Amino acid sequence: MEIKEIKKDFPILNNEKIVYLDSGATTQKPVQVIQAVEEFYKKYNANPHRGAYTLSMEATEIYENTRNKISKFINARYSEEIIFSKNATESLNLIAYSYGMDNLKKDDEVVISIMEHHSNLVPWQKICKSTESNLKYMYLNENFEISKEEIEKKITDKTKIVGITYVSNVLGTINKVEEIIKYAHKKGAIVILDASQSIPHLKLDVQKLDADFVVFSGHKMLAPFGIGIMYGKKEILNKMSPFLMGGDMIEYVYEQETTFAPLPNKFEAGTQNVEAVVGLGTAIDYINNLGYDKIQEIEKEIINYARQELSKLDYLTLYMPKNQENHSSVISFNIKGVHPHDVASILDSKGICIRSGNHCAQPLMRFLGIDSTCRASFYFYNTKEDVDKLVEGLKSAYNMFKKYIK
Ligand code: ALA
Repeated sequence: MEIKEIKKDFPILNNEKIVYLDSGATTQKPVQVIQAVEEFYKKYNANPHRGAYTLSMEATEIYENTRNKISKFINARYSEEIIFSKNATESLNLIAYSYGMDNLKKDDEVVISIMEHHSNLVPWQKICKSTESNLKYMYLNENFEISKEEIEKKITDKTKIVGITYVSNVLGTINKVEEIIKYAHKKGAIVILDASQSIPHLKLDVQKLDADFVVFSGHKMLAPFGIGIMYGKKEILNKMSPFLMGGDMIEYVYEQETTFAPLPNKFEAGTQNVEAVVGLGTAIDYINNLGYDKIQEIEKEIINYARQELSKLDYLTLYMPKNQENHSSVISFNIKGVHPHDVASILDSKGICIRSGNHCAQPLMRFLGIDSTCRASFYFYNTKEDVDKLVEGLKSAYNMFKKYIK
C-alpha cells in the first residue's frame, strides 16, 4: 500500500494544513478504529462479565476475544497473562506496588536507566523508600546508548528488579533489551520492559525476549486513549497481590475477608474501558494487515531521511544515537540559543505539530545538561514531504531568532 493510500485511513491527516509529528505522544486513529468504537456502542454496549443476558454476554465475548488477540499479537503463552489497565503508567504502578512492595527488602537494588520515562522511575523512588531498597541508574555513553560494561556494572547480585524502556521516548535509542534481560536473569533479577515507544514500530515477542513483565499503552499504537496492557508471566502474576480492589476481582467477599478471582480478573477491578478495548483490537488488526515489515520499511526511510536533512542544519544540536540501526521513530533537537517552546510555536503557526519540553524525562535532561528539547516523532503515515516541511519550518524559526542568539 502507498503512503498516500495509508493517509486516507486517517481522517485528521486529510487536513492538508496539519503536519503531524507527535506520534510519540499519541498516534492518530484510523477510520477503522473510530468505526469499531461506534459500532460497539450502536450494537453491543453492555457491561462484560456482569449480565446473564445476551447483550452482556456478547460484550464479554468481544472483550475476551480482544484479550486473546493481544496475547497472540505479543506471543504470550496464556491469554490470562494479558491484563487490561488504563495505560502503561497504571501498569507500571501495578507492578511497583504489587510485585515491588511484596518482594523488595532492605538493601535490595532496583536498576533502571537514566532514559526512563517518569512512569518507570517515580513509582520506583516511592517503593524503594518504603522498602528501604536502593534505586540505581544505568547511564549512557556518548552515542546515547547503554553499553555492555554499564549493564554489567550496575546489575549485580543485589539487583532484584530491572526496569528498562525498549525505545527511548526522547532519544529514539533502541536498547539491547535481550542482552539486558539475559544478564539480569543470570543475576537473579526480574525484568520489566516498557514497550510503549517500541510496540507501534517493532514486533514484540514476549516469549523470545523472556521479559517477566511488559507494559504498553493503546493510544500510541492507533487505539483510543484509556487502555493499557500489563503482560506478566503467569507464575509471577499468580503469586502477586491485587493492586486495585473492587468489583469483578473477587471470588468471595465476607464482612472482614475477601478471596480473589483467578487471573486475569484479579487485576481488573471495576468496570473497564470496553470501547477502548474494542478499539485496541481493531488497531491490532490494522497493524497486522499492514505488517511490521512494511511499517519498518516505511519508517526506516523516513527516519534516515530526517537524520540526514536535520544534520545539514548546523545550528541544530541533535540528540540521537550515532548508529541509525539503533534508532527508532523520534528525533530530539534544539536550535542553539532558542527555547524549544518558541521553536514549537513557530512550527505550530505553519501547522507542524511537534512536542517541546522535558518529555517526562527530567533526570535524562539533567544528565544531558539541558532543560528541554524539541521532539519530532514519526509513524508510518508520515512522508518525506513532512520532513521537508519540518526543515523549512526550522529554517524560518532560525532566521527569525538568529539576531538574538548570543
Ligand atoms: N509519553 C508520551 C511522550 O513521550 C506522552 O510524548
